[in-house]
Amino acid sequence: MSTADTIPVHPAWLPDAAFAPLGSRRVRVALGPDAADPVAATVLDEVRRATAAHGGALVTDDGPSDVVLRWEPDAPAAGFTTTRTGGVTSVVARDAVGLLHGLHALVRAGEAAFGADHPTVVDTPVAPVRMLDHWDNIDVHPVMGQVERGYAGGSIFYADGRVRDDLSRVAAYARLLGSIGINAVAINNVNVHRTEARLLTDGLSDVARVADLFRPHGVRTYLSVSFASPVVLGGLPTSDPADPDVQAWWAAAADRVYATIPDFGGFVVKADSEGQPGPFAYGRDHADGANLLARAVAPHGGTVFWRAFVYNHEQDWRDRRTDRARAAYDHFAPLDGRFDDNVVLQVKYGPMDFQTREPVSPVLAAMPRTRLAVELQVTQEYTGQQQHVCYLGPLWSQVLTFPLADGATRDVASIVAGVPGPGADAPPSGSTPTGGITAVSNVGDDEFWTGHPLAQANLYAYGRLAWDPQADPVALLDEWIGLTFPGADRRVRDTLHTLMDGSWLTYEAYTAPLGVGFMVDPGRQHYGPNVDGYEYSKWGTYHFADRDGVGVDRTVATGTGYTGQYPSPWRETYEDLATCPDELLLFFHHVPYGHVLHSGRTVIQHVYDSRADAVDVVTAWVDAWSALRGLVDDRLHARVAERLAEQVRSATEWRDQVRTYFFRKSGVPDTTGRPIH
Ligand code: GCU
Repeated sequence: MSTADTIPVHPAWLPDAAFAPLGSRRVRVALGPDAADPVAATVLDEVRRATAAHGGALVTDDGPSDVVLRWEPDAPAAGFTTTRTGGVTSVVARDAVGLLHGLHALVRAGEAAFGADHPTVVDTPVAPVRMLDHWDNIDVHPVMGQVERGYAGGSIFYADGRVRDDLSRVAAYARLLGSIGINAVAINNVNVHRTEARLLTDGLSDVARVADLFRPHGVRTYLSVSFASPVVLGGLPTSDPADPDVQAWWAAAADRVYATIPDFGGFVVKADSEGQPGPFAYGRDHADGANLLARAVAPHGGTVFWRAFVYNHEQDWRDRRTDRARAAYDHFAPLDGRFDDNVVLQVKYGPMDFQTREPVSPVLAAMPRTRLAVELQVTQEYTGQQQHVCYLGPLWSQVLTFPLADGATRDVASIVAGVPGPGADAPPSGSTPTGGITAVSNVGDDEFWTGHPLAQANLYAYGRLAWDPQADPVALLDEWIGLTFPGADRRVRDTLHTLMDGSWLTYEAYTAPLGVGFMVDPGRQHYGPNVDGYEYSKWGTYHFADRDGVGVDRTVATGTGYTGQYPSPWRETYEDLATCPDELLLFFHHVPYGHVLHSGRTVIQHVYDSRADAVDVVTAWVDAWSALRGLVDDRLHARVAERLAEQVRSATEWRDQVRTYFFRKSGVPDTTGRPIH
């Protein structure tokens, strides 16, 4: 047995000890007609496991109980209701999935779930589809590795050129996802390479094995597919959506998928993006392309998640008129109303690419007659690559609660909930759910799942915010700490809170300033600083720093016109220097270094100060964490300590490169006299 086989996988937020309050009680489970559902078996397993560990009992007859989990035909269509009467806490739900989610809500609440004053709570998920996308490859890609933008080892699904024989990690992962309400997972990279394309055909029986493990946790399986499949897999001369043979090929492919996996979720598609094939090759648009696939899966109740991440990745940096931020809106907004009902347009939260700070994508406000899902990135491509502590709950919360549309009365959460926009028809009752939320997963075959053990909190917070976007991300952090480190010394909880609570803002403060983005190193897969790394590249991600100023003019008046893609009041707010928020200033405007921010500081002094202050913050974390030695698991302690040392090194490099770069460009000294190199 290799060492790797002997190290137990970390239980994440489901250690046995977290089940003590529930597991020490008598738990009656009444499953009704859902008793045969595979999720019902999971509910029973969870109760058995918890009660066996903590001295309670599973009650399946009418005997006395302290807790009841009960099927109830009049319960909410999704989610569950919790009540406390006569000394008994009851969870009722309309199906086994709702009971599973309710059971985990009791676990999260701990003893509070059994207090006399526990109020009645109706808990229903906001986004109907809550998905994780894996950018996993079967083969190990020469540049990207096995998991594209993966920072936690190899894939949990694939090894040695095929789907793993031993999928026990997938089963454990499915349990984690089910416990936080995730209900969809796409198991391969959106960049679909040759081997992975075959999952749709020759690989189906293996995909079915994976789906069998997700199903008992209420999670449906999806595949990323190549738009060129009819050519690549089917040997047809074309993938043109208008070609009847192509349509027939997709229909037959979908029939085979559903014959093998009847509850298959559908397809995720990256088309005409960064070199992936798409409908443009045939003079068709994205609605034609998406509807082609949607019609193939529609008879089976399937959904197509079609990505809006489409832009010119062969841009000439000399061309100042093209603005990558505009691209998704320019491509997709004119297509509003043309997508079939079972297409969900998957829109990255910002117009660029998962930066530490971006404005919310205007596409989300521009397509009231299209089903939309917002796409987040749990894997930390641009936010420290799971070497740095960067708790992203506050970023996602800001995105989801942002009042984007209709005179700022509709927030992003209502859009992903599928609340019909102005001019849109309400979906007929009983139709497939609208909207959704999706994110790129951060797990791999690492012992701690996520490389950096504290990055587990991001996976947790994503699931919880997908369920309830109004949840307080800081409260979710404490919830995660309480579950993952049950019974831990107060110093452990306080230190974790201090390290993680503001870590996104700290990360932002030592990296690219004021919303300008990027400045990452192309030679190191976007890790670490390289201020001009993308400045003269084809990728459309520029900061335009010169001796006088920095930032991208995206105004209607003098710039690329991007601000005009927003509805009021945002188009005016962002257009005007006087109202543009500081944290997005350089995203929207090119300003002189002496421009005074709302904070009262000049842009250049802000760049100098915040980078230096942020490194001081990170440096203090090292000692704080070191004081916890012996109070948390030794292996976990060592892993976090090693990553914190790297975070200090990397943050210092960021600080010194960014400060020095802007001093050399501007010649303006740092008024504090702190060293510049
Ligand atoms: C980013 C990322 C790529 C990924 C792409 C996408 O550009 O760096 O690795 O393929 O996003 O979202 O499709």
